Amino acid sequence: MLKKITTTATALLLATLTACGSADSGASGGAGGKTDKITMGFAQVGAESGWRTANTTSVQRSAATAGVELKFSDAQQKQENQIKAIRSYIQQKVDVIAFSPVVETGWDAVLLEAKRAKIPVILTDRAVDSKDDSLYETFLGSDFVLEGEKAGKWLTENSQGPVNVVELQGTTGAAPAIDRKKGFEKAVAARQDIKIVATQSGDFTRAGGKQVMEALLRSTPDIDVVYAHNDDMGLGAIEAIKAAGKTPGKDIKIITVDAVKAGMEALAAGEINYIVECNPLLGDQLMDLAKKVLAGEEVPKRVVTEETTFTPEQAKAALPTRQY
Ligand code: AHR
Repeated sequence: MLKKITTTATALLLATLTACGSADSGASGGAGGKTDKITMGFAQVGAESGWRTANTTSVQRSAATAGVELKFSDAQQKQENQIKAIRSYIQQKVDVIAFSPVVETGWDAVLLEAKRAKIPVILTDRAVDSKDDSLYETFLGSDFVLEGEKAGKWLTENSQGPVNVVELQGTTGAAPAIDRKKGFEKAVAARQDIKIVATQSGDFTRAGGKQVMEALLRSTPDIDVVYAHNDDMGLGAIEAIKAAGKTPGKDIKIITVDAVKAGMEALAAGEINYIVECNPLLGDQLMDLAKKVLAGEEVPKRVVTEETTFTPEQAKAALPTRQY
């Protein structure tokens, strides 16, 4: 049975790799003045959230506009799938590999394989935890610690104690889950009367947020605030709060991260109280960095995405032109 499931999963992954890519370009790969058509292997995390869908669309559109041939794979939030996809890109001799790591650790071996094959790697969105930063060219993405700090700062400025917070964490071991927790804790540390009374992973999904919130509403008395590491989990928590007969945004305040359309709509409707933006539109910058790396140009080791925050009034103003 287990063998059958494994075989099916492998077949599915390979099918995704083949279906989303086109024929090999025959490009040699490696940095140093490449001028013909670029082939990029992109190993995406999955489709767990509205943010992720917007990020995938951005990468695919930008690749088409930049004339980059994109081989795309969806790891369904599993590190082993991402490693298989990267190995497949190495075998196919793509020119450049870009990926957003599901979790922070455990990448050195496969990144070393890419380095030995002289295929440059660009990290997008999420970082890896490695001592050897020669394993990748650059890391393009948000400052997740700062995002957590912004969320905590808003709470310190908009609450009076005592405040009981429940935290809905992202995927265990993922950079945004680790860093958003760290940043939030740092920002609220000065307020002894703000307490994180429970913290649990909802895996960055709406279903996960709902399920965790349902359990927390049963087990934890007097919840004042939900701090969700993304909009999707916050939206799931809203469903659970309503089902428990409480009013989200009033009885229980909600702070989230991302600012995707559904989150912004809930913010404008007063069901979420504050959103810290995390920008998924990384495609253009990614293609630009890939071209520079392959042309042998120097690129910064870290490119930080610019982001803002939203109150309900600001969400109402931003919604009509929001792209995602
Ligand atoms: O890595 C970015 C995070 O991953 C987004 O905040 C979240 O929605 C996504 O799943």
